[in-house]
Amino acid sequence: MSGPGSYPRTAPRSVRITGWGSYVPERVLTNADLEKLVDTSDEWIRSRTGIRERRVAAPHETTATLGAIAAKRAIAVAGLDPDDIDIIVVATLTPDYWMPSTAALVKEAIGNSTAAAFDVSAACSGFVFAYATADSYVRSGMARNVLVVGAELLTRFLDFSDRATCILFGDGAGAVVLSASDEEGGGLEGMEMTTDPDGAYMIWLPSGGSRSPSSAETMKRGEHYIRMEGRETYRYATRTLATSALSAIKKAGWEPADVDLFVPHQANARIIEAVAKGLGLPMEKMVVNIDRYGNTSAASVGIALDEAVRGGRVKSGDKLVFFAFGAGFTSGAAAITWTADPELSSRSDDVEPTASIRAPVEWAAVDPMPPRLAAVLADPGGPPVPLDDVVPGEPEPAHKEEQA
Ligand code: ACO
Repeated sequence: MSGPGSYPRTAPRSVRITGWGSYVPERVLTNADLEKLVDTSDEWIRSRTGIRERRVAAPHETTATLGAIAAKRAIAVAGLDPDDIDIIVVATLTPDYWMPSTAALVKEAIGNSTAAAFDVSAACSGFVFAYATADSYVRSGMARNVLVVGAELLTRFLDFSDRATCILFGDGAGAVVLSASDEEGGGLEGMEMTTDPDGAYMIWLPSGGSRSPSSAETMKRGEHYIRMEGRETYRYATRTLATSALSAIKKAGWEPADVDLFVPHQANARIIEAVAKGLGLPMEKMVVNIDRYGNTSAASVGIALDEAVRGGRVKSGDKLVFFAFGAGFTSGAAAITWTADPELSSRSDDVEPTASIRAPVEWAAVDPMPPRLAAVLADPGGPPVPLDDVVPGEPEPAHKEEQA
C-alpha cells in the first residue's frame, strides 16, 4: 500500500537514505562574465568567496524541472518506482510560482500519482529542514518513502547590477530518498534547527508577498531581487554554523573527530574554513564544491552530498554531518550514519537530464532571464554590458521620450 492516507503504520526500526541524485544546468557563468556586468574581478571573487563559476538554467528550465531531474536520479538509485514515493518535500526560496507548490510540479514531472507534495521554506537551510521533516514522517510510520528535493533557480532573482549579490549565487538541485528500514541503526542520529528573526531583513526579497505585493513601483525599485547584508550574514554564519554542527554531533553522542565527512551549505569557502577551524578539524573533512557552483541555497547540501558519494568519499558506516544556514536567519545540522552502498549511484546513469511540466500558458513566448544576464550570455566574447539607465533602488529618471 502506498500514500500517507494509510497512516498509522508500524513505526520502522530506522530511517535511512536509500537514494541520492543531483542536477546542474549546462550553462556556465564565469567570474570573467561577471566582470563585464559589475565592477568586480575574478581575483576578488575567488579570494573573498572561493567561487570560480556557477551554473545558469536555460530559459526552458524552472526550479521544478531542475528538481525533477535530481529527484528521478535519486529514485533510480533507491531502486524504486516514482509511485513508491509517499511524500514529496521540496525546499526552495525560488519556487516556480507562489502557488501551487513547486513540489506539486515535481510530482507531475517525475510521474508520481500517489504522493502528497508540499514545499518547505527555510532558505539555504531548506535541505536540512526538509530532511528533518521527511525523517519525521517516515519515523512516525506515516510514510515509507519520502523524497526530499532542494532546488533553486536563483539567477532569475538576482540584480545583475548589484556586485554584492550577483556574484554569489547559481542554479541547481539535489535530492535524497529517505526510506523505512526494518534493520536497526543508521540514518539520523542527531538534529539541530534554529531560527533567529533578528536576521529577518539581512537576506530578503522585499516585494511579491502580502507585506508588499508586486507592482510597477516595486519593480522600479528592484524589490523583486534578493537583497543581502553580506557582512552581518557572514558574522551570523561563522557564529552559528559550528555551534549548530556541534549540537547535532553531541545529540548523536559523537565527538567532532568521530565524523568522517561534513557536507556544508556552500555559501562561502571562508565560512567553511572558519567552521573547520572552530571544530578543530582539517579541511579534508569538509566537502567543498562552491568553486564550480557558487551558492545554490537549498540545493547545495544535496548536490555536495551526491558528488561526495559518487566521488568515493563516502562508505557504508560513515558518520556524516549536513549543516547549513540561511535567510531567516535559520540554521540546521543533521548528524547521520550512512548505510547505503555508494556503488548504487550508477543506477541513475541512464536517467535523461530532462523534465517537463504542463502549463496553461505558452511560456515559450516569455523570456524569464534578467536582461543583463541574458545580454552577457548572448555575447560571451563581447564587450562589457553598460549599466541600465534605470538602476534598481534609485528613483526612475524621466524617460527620454517624455523629455523630448
Ligand atoms: N567585487 C569587488 N568588490 C566588492 C564586491 C565585488 N563583487 N562586493 C563587495 N565589494 C567591496 C565592497 O563594496 C567593500 O568595499 P569598501 O571597503 O570600499 O566599502 C569591500 O569589497 C569589502 O566588502 P565586504 O562586504 O566587507 O566584503 P567581505 O569580505 O565581507 O565579502 C561577501 C563579501 C562575500 C558577500 C561576504 O560578506 C559573505 O560571504 N557573506 C555571507 C553571504 C552569504 O553567505 N549569503 C548567503 C546566505 S544563504 C541564503 O539564505 C540565501
